[in-house]
Amino acid sequence: MRVLGIETSCDETAVAVVDDGRKILSNLLAEQAHLHERFGGVVPEVASRAHLENINPLITMALTEAGTWTDGIDAVAVTVGPGLVGALLVGIAAAKALALTLDVPFIGVNHLEGHIYANVLEHGPMEEPYVAFLVSGGHTMLVHVPSPFTYELLGQTLDDAAGEAFDKVARFLGLGFPGGPALDRLARKGDPKAVRFPRAATERGFDFSLSGLKTAVVRYVKAERARGGPATPVEDLAASFQEAVVDVQVAKTIAAAKDTGAGTVVLGGGVVANTRLRELLAKEASARGLRLLVPPVELCTDNAAMIASAGFYRLGRGERTPLEVGASPSLPLA
Ligand code: KG4
Ligand code: ZN
Repeated sequence: MRVLGIETSCDETAVAVVDDGRKILSNLLAEQAHLHERFGGVVPEVASRAHLENINPLITMALTEAGTWTDGIDAVAVTVGPGLVGALLVGIAAAKALALTLDVPFIGVNHLEGHIYANVLEHGPMEEPYVAFLVSGGHTMLVHVPSPFTYELLGQTLDDAAGEAFDKVARFLGLGFPGGPALDRLARKGDPKAVRFPRAATERGFDFSLSGLKTAVVRYVKAERARGGPATPVEDLAASFQEAVVDVQVAKTIAAAKDTGAGTVVLGGGVVANTRLRELLAKEASARGLRLLVPPVELCTDNAAMIASAGFYRLGRGERTPLEVGASPSLPLA
């Protein structure tokens, strides 16, 4: 079954064609970062308009690159939430129109489920039970998956999502937008032990909190500037902040696997592109005999191949989404 996937939940217009949930025939992205950069964050109205301009040409290009045309498409999958409502609607409208005119099945996909299924594109079908750690610009979440499409929330962020915190601290350090990848690159040249930033102790075992850490970085830098004299190199600040984030993430993810008895840990979301997170989790998982599934970096950030893959598995269970479906900006996974 050949699925055309569409993803427009945030600031990337993405279209992909995937065979049997696994084989990527095309996976295209029209990035918008340059449009949002001067605002220091994604502007919803700007994102929607760019999606509108990009979506139709991108569908044509994705079909062409896949070496097929609309008659070669067996189903259409699209992100229906969570995300920016105006942005989601552009992808949903395009997907509905395609499914209706081609008279093929239509399936709505949860964006977070897509991030989990990015792993299938790389590693093949996943075996439950597993613990999924989802970290992106909008989410930080630990989920237990005892059987296919059953999600039990173990914990989530009480304030900032990890990607959001990376972006905010990067912006404060003057690294541009989106700052996560820039901060990661800089941190590789820094000393993670230069500054001991606080590790958030949250009340509930698997919840996360990052606003305190973010404030601590800002306070530290401002106090240093006020004092004058030698300042901590920005590489060291980046590495120390990143270490404080990743330390807690890795500890909680490993603890969640232990707690649930799941032998496999699955990662998903843009922040999984982070070098230190990948490195430390690989080390800790292997030390405990846990199987770790990590998507390649280009499939960690938003893309449509992951949506096509998740859609394929839902369609395989006979699921269909009615064409009346709308956008769900805060669609829960669990
Ligand atoms: O999953 P994603 O592409 O979009 C959302 O669904 O939010 O995640 C984007 C987020 C951004 O906040 C970006 O700064 C962060 O992922 N990110 C990173 C890295 N690459 C992307 N954060 C830390 N290190 C990275 N290498
Ligand atoms: Zn995402």
